[in-house]
Amino acid sequence: MNLAVVGTGYVGLVSGTCFAEMGNQVVCVDNLEEKVERLNRSEIPIYEPGLKELVRKNKEAGHLCFTTDIGQAVRQSDVILIAVGTPETETGAADLSYVYAVAEEIGAELDETYKVIVNKSTVPVGTAEAVERIIQKRQPSASVDVCSVPEFLREGSAVKDTFHPDRVVIGGSSQKATEILTELHQPLTDKLVVTDTRSSEMTKYASNAFLATKISFINEIANICDIYDADVNAVAEGMGLDHRIGPKFLNAGIGYGGSCFPKDVKALKYLAEEKEYHPNLLQAVNDVNEQQNRKMVDHLLRIFDEEVQGLTVAILGLAFKPNTDDIREAPALKIIQELADRGVHIRAFDPVATENAKQMITADITYTETAVDAINGADAAFLVTEWDECKSLTSTQFKDHLKRPVVIDGRNALDVKSLKADGIIYHGIGRK
Ligand code: UDX
Repeated sequence: MNLAVVGTGYVGLVSGTCFAEMGNQVVCVDNLEEKVERLNRSEIPIYEPGLKELVRKNKEAGHLCFTTDIGQAVRQSDVILIAVGTPETETGAADLSYVYAVAEEIGAELDETYKVIVNKSTVPVGTAEAVERIIQKRQPSASVDVCSVPEFLREGSAVKDTFHPDRVVIGGSSQKATEILTELHQPLTDKLVVTDTRSSEMTKYASNAFLATKISFINEIANICDIYDADVNAVAEGMGLDHRIGPKFLNAGIGYGGSCFPKDVKALKYLAEEKEYHPNLLQAVNDVNEQQNRKMVDHLLRIFDEEVQGLTVAILGLAFKPNTDDIREAPALKIIQELADRGVHIRAFDPVATENAKQMITADITYTETAVDAINGADAAFLVTEWDECKSLTSTQFKDHLKRPVVIDGRNALDVKSLKADGIIYHGIGRK
């Protein structure tokens, strides 16, 4: 099939590249000229395992190209995917201005040839209908169906997730469009959920909100474990073996971050409140998450009897999770700010996110090249992101390099028994 993908952010770039790899002819559009030039040289703006090789391969094979010319892309394609950002606004609502601007641009380029337009961006319920209205207003003779096929990929495993999805949800607005989209996605999975556009849009928000709920739930349990001297990792293991619960997304820690969960929980809450329904559960999920990233500093204050000014803390990991350079809504940002406000010196290490961090963080930080270098001379180590290099630090390394062997594990990723046996002053989140 001939596809156009508008927006070369995470979702657009990964899905466009993967559709090319599946044998489709794909043109990716972005309005940033410099970004398009770089992509045409196979320079990838994000850190995502396997993506660079796939972009290069498909560009060389002639299945994939990048352009700023949306008109040409629209004219030569049967299916046009909208994959632009829907950032959070001050109220918590999703900002749809980029989606609507693209709808206008597509409308301006259409003639009477039939096209399927697909919303891949995470959008509020009713957006496919709104996009169709914009296009029809701009071009009354246009022959389009606007559908919803939400994206469920995770950063750090985006290529793998795209080729091996648990399911594909197709919100079709007509029989014809549904058939075309079924044909496009069939090679990926036999688990296709075909529904209407509104239910499809809701499925994306509900899935992210449910995963966020699982995390906030186990974090709440961790906080209660802390009070009663129980170990949340053991509790999660015991819970997760129940098939109805499942073991995934039960890792307690300093809360969820990234470009999706925080934004999408708030956007869904806003959608409900807009219609005067108050979603108490979503409010609680968000509240627990916002409190959670204070836990590490709370431990530090307790250990040092509130006297933390002038101490040096090693921050191990800056990205919101391992295998990505993304620091959007990363717990590290708030933790660093809180420490800096209390007069704590910071040495920070991250294998790939340091450059992004430098652009976002104003506090004075010493960035190091290795995890060992970060803990060198520090009074305490904070494991913030569970990168292999950070979680493989040993008791000997902590004891040799830290001034005091204080390790605060925000991801419950270290072996509590062996660290304690080796004399490390260890604190996790809800660990005995
Ligand atoms: C998420 C969804 O998983 C994906 O389906 C959607 O398309 C986009 O949002 P992503 O943000 O890339 O993907 O990361 P994910 O691996 O889901 O982790 C999100 C956050 O939750 C991270 O900050 C992670 O550290 C945290 N998390 C995850 C926990 O704190 N505990 C867990 O058990 C799992």
